[in-house]
Amino acid sequence: MRYADITQRLAGLGGAKWDVHVRAKALRAKGHDILELTIGEPDVPTPQVLIDAATAAMQAGRTGYSDGHGEPGLRAALSGRYSQRTGRTISADQVMCFPGTQTALFAVMMGIADSGCEVLVGDPMYATYEGVIRASGADMVPVPLRPENGFRLAADDLAARITPRTSAILLTTPHNPTGSILTPADIDAIGALALAHDLWIISDEVYEDLIFDGETFTSPLSRAPFSDRVIVVSSISKSHAAPGFRSGWCIGPKAFTEALLPLSETMLFGNQPFIADMTEQAVRNGSDVAPGMCMRFAARARHLADRLTQDSNLRVHTPQAGMFAMIDVSSTGLNGNDYALHLLEHAHVAVMPGSSFGTTLDNWVRVALTVDDDAFDMACARIIQHATQLQFETA
Ligand SMILES: Cc1ncc(COP(=O)(O)O)c(C=O)c1O
Repeated sequence: MRYADITQRLAGLGGAKWDVHVRAKALRAKGHDILELTIGEPDVPTPQVLIDAATAAMQAGRTGYSDGHGEPGLRAALSGRYSQRTGRTISADQVMCFPGTQTALFAVMMGIADSGCEVLVGDPMYATYEGVIRASGADMVPVPLRPENGFRLAADDLAARITPRTSAILLTTPHNPTGSILTPADIDAIGALALAHDLWIISDEVYEDLIFDGETFTSPLSRAPFSDRVIVVSSISKSHAAPGFRSGWCIGPKAFTEALLPLSETMLFGNQPFIADMTEQAVRNGSDVAPGMCMRFAARARHLADRLTQDSNLRVHTPQAGMFAMIDVSSTGLNGNDYALHLLEHAHVAVMPGSSFGTTLDNWVRVALTVDDDAFDMACARIIQHATQLQFETA
């Protein structure tokens, strides 16, 4: 039987990236005491008030078909939130609702890129980006994010890779896996390129509510000269500890959402009204759980950095936001992948090799900050002991 080309374009993506995670699960299933710091999920349950809101909406009969743009109440709430946060008027016409950031990203990419196009994206990147870009038929052009620039995407590095085929720049701010936040100056320099070369800017802001104390976030949507070429994607997955509800959106120019409507209707035939009602409440009331996550994740990142700096030759990149920290393991003589496998086998700590997120992080690993403090401290101790052992073995 014949399969469509898209299956070939996506074949082989994903599997190998999760090797350490899969092995960790298998060891755990066999009864080994594995500390899993691979996947980042909110460390609290979805707030009961949101579960009650979804339940009440279902009981009130909000289980029919929805509007192809998303429910009017949710779109109005998002229009209010983005108008307030960006200082610009964002109308409800500019909002489209999707089941999660991931689906929004997919739809947006299908709407602005296809075969013959190139999409620029920082490397390292979130694990699904390559698939999203390839699904559209476009070519992904990775742009290295440099540790010496705090892993923030530099306009000069982008400029060097722009060609007549470039159609979009995909930004993640705050960034996964590095936890860095683009500054207004970074964004303005990137926006100037987008203006000069007639490019879209897609801004994945799913970690916007997980900004650590003392840090500030700027959305490209708030920057006047080029905001009409910006499409934001986000959701309540991280901000409200509700990834399983699959509730997200995109915000773009009205002409863009109009052009995207047939695609959204063809894909989804509308969203679920009871999830839209719950999300409307979440958006209107803000998050009760995000401040606690910020405090805990920031404290664990600091703890990791302090302990490893003091007691090992490993160096930590401390994030400004999000759920992850990164460790530079080059002093061990192993690359990130070999280090992660060795750490799992010998110290029973599972971390993600940096190479799962692109080529720039070959000598790094990513650590999820989402396990409880005792387990996290135990993981730090095991990482330190393992590093000492490695040093001893290679001496
Ligand atoms: C950068 C980034 N974008 C998108 C997603 C997916 O988010 P959602 O659950 O809203 O689809 C994630 C999830 O980890 C992410 O890290």
